[in-house]
Amino acid sequence: MKEDTMNDTAVTGADSVVNTSHLMQTYKPAPVVFVRGEGPYLFDTDGNKYLDFLSGIAVTSLGHAHDQVAAAIAKQARELLHVSNLFHNDLAQDVASMLDSLIIGDSADPAIRANGGKVFFANSGAEAVECALKLSRKWGGGTAYKVVAFDGSFHGRTFGALSATGQPKKKQDFLPMLDGFIHLPYVDVDLLAQCLEQNQIPEQNGRSNLVAAVLIEPIQGENGILLPLENTLAEVRELCNRHNVLMVVDEIQTGLGRTGKWFAFQHDGIIPDVVTMAKSLGNGMPIGACWAKSTVADCFMPGDHGTTFGGQPLALSAAKATLDALLEIRAPETAHDLGQKLREALSGLEGVEYVRGKGLLLGVKLSEDIDASAFTTTALSLGLIANSPVPGIVRLAPPYVIDDTHISEATELFKAALRLHRKGKAG
Ligand SMILES: Cc1ncc(COP(=O)(O)O)c(C=O)c1O
Repeated sequence: MKEDTMNDTAVTGADSVVNTSHLMQTYKPAPVVFVRGEGPYLFDTDGNKYLDFLSGIAVTSLGHAHDQVAAAIAKQARELLHVSNLFHNDLAQDVASMLDSLIIGDSADPAIRANGGKVFFANSGAEAVECALKLSRKWGGGTAYKVVAFDGSFHGRTFGALSATGQPKKKQDFLPMLDGFIHLPYVDVDLLAQCLEQNQIPEQNGRSNLVAAVLIEPIQGENGILLPLENTLAEVRELCNRHNVLMVVDEIQTGLGRTGKWFAFQHDGIIPDVVTMAKSLGNGMPIGACWAKSTVADCFMPGDHGTTFGGQPLALSAAKATLDALLEIRAPETAHDLGQKLREALSGLEGVEYVRGKGLLLGVKLSEDIDASAFTTTALSLGLIANSPVPGIVRLAPPYVIDDTHISEATELFKAALRLHRKGKAG
């Protein structure tokens, strides 16, 4: 919407606004070009203002143009951008140690408290997953190599991550996928138990199962904010312990406060063996990370894995400033409280069937007569940014810096879009 105005006329829709002729057609961007951001707001080329309740898909959790993050990036850019992993930089150790504390939290397990975990820095979510997959195979010592993943999951677009992904449509034009991936319904714990039993073998090299790892999202974000039953992760943890299989939790979308805990697995009071994260870690600076318990992480030797840019000073300066700021605003509690309010505000609206999710990662189920994808186009035209990862569901992942006013504003815009958007009326 134009700053200070909200009317029913679309501010987007002119295809001529964007020229994509030299870009591969992997995306179908909305015809709006953002040139500036400020907190939870974005501004387009015409000065229209939008309330960003998607945060670049759960990335800019501190909002746009965050002072501390911007200052840290600017300072680092003037000092040192990159030296390669042929040389150590202290920021890597600092950020890794912060992540380790956030993951381990107040774990009661003395072995975990004593040894903690270690981190590999990557440049994206998919790369963090690749690290987790390779680490699992290394840990498996050539004996345990299979990875159990789940239907509907999303782990990224590189070949390992795509092979793990449980969405056949995303893979069908790129077959064959990598060997060794098993997909089970999300999350059928009985089938998982059966699967692990079937893959049991007489012990070889300290491994007694052909499965090296169970890879699981605590909430399936790309599958419409789908939650497993309560306590499921604890049951998966127990099965992994029983069969000496790694539990790898993909927290790329859910991590760093978004669901009301630093990491979503903490809702179940467990600690995985391996955790992947990315999105919120740099508040927009591309960075991913794979954390593993030291006993697992130490399987990697120099030369086993690497990336030119991963863990470079520029990305880490953003990550450090982001983590400092997330700690300052008590991100998990903040996301929990704001999420509660947003959920309550949207739950009663006409056209909303229910709201699911945790903290500030919410899926709003619209009534059958509303096309959710077209609804998000309508919402955008009114000045509210959201998306629809699966039919019927609108995903909201606002930054943690919103307040009651932004929640009211978003609710009004959501309501206006609902009113406007009935099949045949808009979209
Ligand atoms: C749970 C999960 N894993 C992995 C990825 C892939 O991350 P990236 O797009 O940074 O490669 C995503 C991205 O949406 C994700 O949500």
